[in-house]
Amino acid sequence: MMLSWRCDNAVHASCCLRVTLCLAVLLFFVIILTTLQNCFVIDAGTLSVSATVNKKRVLHVIDDRYASVGIDASLVQEKFKNFDTSSVKLLTLSQSLGPCYVRVGGTAEDLLVFDDKLLDKDSPFRKPQHVFVMTVADWDKINKFVSDVGWHLVFGLNLLLRNGSSWDPSNAEALMKYSDQKGYQMHLELGNEPNSFKHVFQKTVDPSQSAKDFHVLRNLMQTFSTFKSSLLIGPDVTRPIKTSDEDELTTSSKDYLRRFLKTGSPYVDVVTFHHYYVRSQTATASDFRNPAILDSLQGQITLAQSIINSTSPGGKRLWLGEAGSSSGGGAPLLSNRYIAGFMWLDRLGLSAVSGVDVVIRQSFYKGNYAMIDCLDYTPFPDYWLTLLYKRLVGTRVLEVTRSSLDNHLRVYGHCTRTGDRSKYHAGAVTLYILNLWAVDVEVKLPQFSETDLHLYLLTPDGPSGLHSRNVRLNGQVLEMLSDSELPRLEPQTWPAGNPVHMEALTFGFVVIPDANVTVCM
Ligand SMILES: *[C@@H]1O[C@H](CO)[C@@H](O)[C@H](O)[C@H]1NC(C)=O
Ligand SMILES: *[C@@H]1O[C@H](CO)[C@@H](O)[C@H](O)[C@H]1NC(C)=O
Repeated sequence: MMLSWRCDNAVHASCCLRVTLCLAVLLFFVIILTTLQNCFVIDAGTLSVSATVNKKRVLHVIDDRYASVGIDASLVQEKFKNFDTSSVKLLTLSQSLGPCYVRVGGTAEDLLVFDDKLLDKDSPFRKPQHVFVMTVADWDKINKFVSDVGWHLVFGLNLLLRNGSSWDPSNAEALMKYSDQKGYQMHLELGNEPNSFKHVFQKTVDPSQSAKDFHVLRNLMQTFSTFKSSLLIGPDVTRPIKTSDEDELTTSSKDYLRRFLKTGSPYVDVVTFHHYYVRSQTATASDFRNPAILDSLQGQITLAQSIINSTSPGGKRLWLGEAGSSSGGGAPLLSNRYIAGFMWLDRLGLSAVSGVDVVIRQSFYKGNYAMIDCLDYTPFPDYWLTLLYKRLVGTRVLEVTRSSLDNHLRVYGHCTRTGDRSKYHAGAVTLYILNLWAVDVEVKLPQFSETDLHLYLLTPDGPSGLHSRNVRLNGQVLEMLSDSELPRLEPQTWPAGNPVHMEALTFGFVVIPDANVTVCM
């Protein structure tokens, strides 16, 4: 846009308006620049931020299976469709994500009935939104797959199997009896988003009744040696802070959670709520990289924790029991593209700092938010991001402070994962960095200026940019070498003392192999 300062009498009025406008625009930029300069050192057009790790204290220790995955129970309803549990490619990809929980649950869990007599592969009742049968063959298939890939199963039981006002445990008992005989291990849930039952099923289960139902399930679990020490997880409510556009038939999740825990707290080992940042129908690309939207998760976690604190003496572990970028199946061409990595990586970072123990990603398979393609299983960018996370990020969470409080440049820190599948030794630190600025940022690590760094920087591939279906690690497109072999995830060694250059709108990991941080030893 050209700004014209040429004035003549005929257009005097509009000219004055233009001059005023120009001055206003100029003033605006001066204010913005001054604000930025307070936060950053601006040199040669690049922002610069320093990050400092508190080396004295471990904030939290998260579960070894922290980054976990969900598979929707509707897959059982659909007879697993194209999910071929004998596919070498699928097995390779799944096995590589371990250690990991897989939660089989979701809306369809409250429609699922196990039939221990039905052995044949086809069963009646397979219509969506209708009660359906999970046969012994279905159940064997799930358990064989989970065992083959070394995952740990979390299975959601049907809370809508009711006898009068109480939950009817007979079907769960049949499932446990069969599983006990087969030696199938699992952790259990009961009901999916029960505060929304009215909206989804035109039914309600009162939270204090649901607490009694959990008590019944807990007692039942005690009668099986296999499930005595299994976790009972719940109540899987929707996110505690409701947005104005949520259905009014949805009972306030925070009220449901509070009333459930008031009497139900002793029966659960882990408290869960579900969380999506936005709705798929209205999600935009800018939502996916909006720092305010990423920050909104904090309030949800804090509210859940304050409810736990006021109802559960001695505390309770908190999991994000089902968590995805956008609700309702994921947003097409967003939830499975490079850009989805901002929400996923930030969720993992923010939740860990806030003391969440496990995050279950919706979903591993199926929907626009899947980690792998539903037909040929080719990984989406979030698969590779998760794989790197699993390899590099350990369970001890560290506090990281930045020289700027601006929330566009986000840095999280953990002790590096050591042991199996790790090339690092105790004392190493892993940082993960998200640059939500549309400009490059130099990240300085003054505490670690004497030692080489290992960079694992992820950038989009090709002209579609943030909407890319592929991701590059240090410039190389990530893809499987064969159905049974993943690429080696090699770092780029970055000489001591140089700031880390984070390209505009990218994310990545920085490992400091020789950080020698005592709390990481
Ligand atoms: C339902 O509950 C009643 C009362 O506890 C019991 O007598 C009856 O057997 C139950 N029915 C079923 C189908 O389990
Ligand atoms: C809950 O209690 C823990 C332990 O006492 C405390 O650290 C935390 O700040 C509390 N959280 C909230 C949100 O009240």
